[in-house]
Amino acid sequence: MKTVLLAAGEGTRMRPLTATRPKPMLPVADRPLLGHVARAAVAAGASELIVVVGYEADVVRSHFGENIEDVPITYVEQSVQRGTAHALAQAAPHLDDEPFVVLNGDALYDRATLADLYQQNAAVGSYTVANPSAYGVLDVDDGVVTDVEEKPISPASNLVNTGAYVFPGEATEYLDVAESSRGEREITDVLDRVIERFEVTSVEFDRWLDVGRPWELLEANEWKIDDLDRSLDGEVADGATVTGDVVVEEGATLEPGVVIEGPAYVRSGASIGPNAYVRGSTYIGPDVHIGHSVEVKNSVLFEGASAGHLAYVGDSILGADVNFGAGTITANLRHDGEPVTMRVKGETVSTDRRKFGVVCGDGAKTGINTSLNAGVTLGAGAATGPGEELLSDRRS
Ligand code: UTP
Repeated sequence: MKTVLLAAGEGTRMRPLTATRPKPMLPVADRPLLGHVARAAVAAGASELIVVVGYEADVVRSHFGENIEDVPITYVEQSVQRGTAHALAQAAPHLDDEPFVVLNGDALYDRATLADLYQQNAAVGSYTVANPSAYGVLDVDDGVVTDVEEKPISPASNLVNTGAYVFPGEATEYLDVAESSRGEREITDVLDRVIERFEVTSVEFDRWLDVGRPWELLEANEWKIDDLDRSLDGEVADGATVTGDVVVEEGATLEPGVVIEGPAYVRSGASIGPNAYVRGSTYIGPDVHIGHSVEVKNSVLFEGASAGHLAYVGDSILGADVNFGAGTITANLRHDGEPVTMRVKGETVSTDRRKFGVVCGDGAKTGINTSLNAGVTLGAGAATGPGEELLSDRRS
């Protein structure tokens, strides 16, 4: 089936990590987030991938090129981000009267259930959550979806919309939906029209993750790094200790005294040590440098990031070329044990994580002995001076 991947959005809730790349291109283990979706779609039976690009479109195009495992990719441009239904409308000229699949480019779907979805003529991928009011909630009767309601106060069920659909070919005629209250043309309004006219099956995913906010990038890496098997192709010094499912790519170096407790992923060009400690589903990107006596735990470090000496990076995300001065310490736990909060688009929101550190945009720098409080954001290119304590966000 032809498969439309939505990847044009601005990813505003993921800022500053999306300042120079679209959200679907954020690193998740061995490939960008969108790469996982695309590969799962190909394994499930996609015959063509129609990728809707817009914000930072070239980053997507240049990474994926013309095909994935011989399945051709067609790019269509959504030059202004008017919402998911509007994004799908850009792909419509490439669709025909056969059923087609639509997938969010910023989510992880378990592969087995996605393959089941591809067997349907009209379906929506669903997932059971504890807090349905934060999502589009599905009303399902005997496996058939009868209604979808966005963020209801009294949800009809715990089953929510995952942004994975099989639409009949006729759905291309239903794309011209009105703007929603948040000013976007939403694909859920297209789903509404499909539900009115066709029997739409609910296909429940065993596992699904919507990657919209920074801590969800940690969760995405936890999922995909945990799935990988051990392979040590880089240079591992005799005095380094590597336990568990750790991937060290060719061209990466582990110096003597390094301890890595898997799962972890170390990309080509990265250098670690001497005497560094890395643990807990950590992603070390290309050309990252982790130096002497630095501890990195359950974190994601983008290409070229560096923590050279005596630093602690816990449950944190460091953008490309971030530089932590010697002795920089991230806090990742509150004294009261409550979930760490952070500011997303001007609002304080819970990460629902007891352990969460900091988010640093590309090129941020900390002076020596900087202390960064849990949940703090350092914007792209922002800096701290020596000995600073950062208790709240510094966006620029
Ligand atoms: P989201 O609403 O989660 O993504 O859309 P967003 O708009 O990029 O993020 P925020 O809200 O600003 O933080 C779900 C998927 O639909 C795509 C996004 O790229 C994402 O993969 N999308 C969204 C489009 O392609 N075009 C749009 O106009 C909106």
